[in-house]
Amino acid sequence: MTVEVIPTGAALGAEIRGLDLSKPLSDAEFEAVQQAWYDHIVLLFRGQQKVNDDDLIRFSRHFGELDIAPASETDMAGSQEKSRPEIWIISNVVENGKPIGALGDKEAEWHTDMSYVAEPPMASVLHSREIPRQGGDTSFANMYKALEELPADLYAAIEGRYCNHDSSTTSVGELRVGASAVVDVRTAPGARHPIIRTHPVTGGKSLYLGRRLNGYIEGYSVEESEKLLDRLWAHCAKPEFAWTHKWAVGDLLIWDNRCAIHRRDSFDGSERRVMHRTQIKGDAPR
Ligand code: SIN
Repeated sequence: MTVEVIPTGAALGAEIRGLDLSKPLSDAEFEAVQQAWYDHIVLLFRGQQKVNDDDLIRFSRHFGELDIAPASETDMAGSQEKSRPEIWIISNVVENGKPIGALGDKEAEWHTDMSYVAEPPMASVLHSREIPRQGGDTSFANMYKALEELPADLYAAIEGRYCNHDSSTTSVGELRVGASAVVDVRTAPGARHPIIRTHPVTGGKSLYLGRRLNGYIEGYSVEESEKLLDRLWAHCAKPEFAWTHKWAVGDLLIWDNRCAIHRRDSFDGSERRVMHRTQIKGDAPR
């Protein structure tokens, strides 16, 4: 099979054609995919309706060992496949009075997956099973470019600094199971990471921000940290760094959490959206 790589033409993202991910990849196919992923940060595979959870796990494992799914705002049992703890279900569907997945139908703000742990997943893989007619689009932003184009004064203010990535809330702003509301960002639970990180494979430097809510840049007053974070997030969210994907059933995306952030649009809660995600283990950002 020939693996075709078609860049989106935006700041990141490429479509890969010529692969059926319900079948194992050869070494040569995987090498082509992996190189395209390093080059383009987000890869899109269309028409993967035949992919089931075992296929999703097998494809994801080409890139490395998998992390178990994160805690959500809903009962854990609702958003993890019981037989496959690596699969995180993202959905607004409620069955027998219980959500089958996490994040509901609200907008999910710009974030990096699970950056609130010491060794966040390097990648996430998301497969669409059911999608609403409108909304629920997912956008990605290139954090190498965001760093390259950071105003000099802002660069100087964050160089060598660490940010705490709060673990209490999800990207839709809801408390995770068992978490308490943050009253002081300086003592928020989570993990501290360098704001500028170096990609362990490409060697590229990128901004690494986590989530805006309850973030805190160490060494500054809360007021100074809030102002810097507002400027950083406004900069990262500029359209010139982004690409938006409008989902079709069967689409599968893989993205690199070390050099991209992402967000999701809200959608009509009377329609069904069901996505299955895996996350691939990473190491401590440095
Ligand atoms: C996510 O943040 O991983 C979910 C994105 C989406 O639901 O499109």
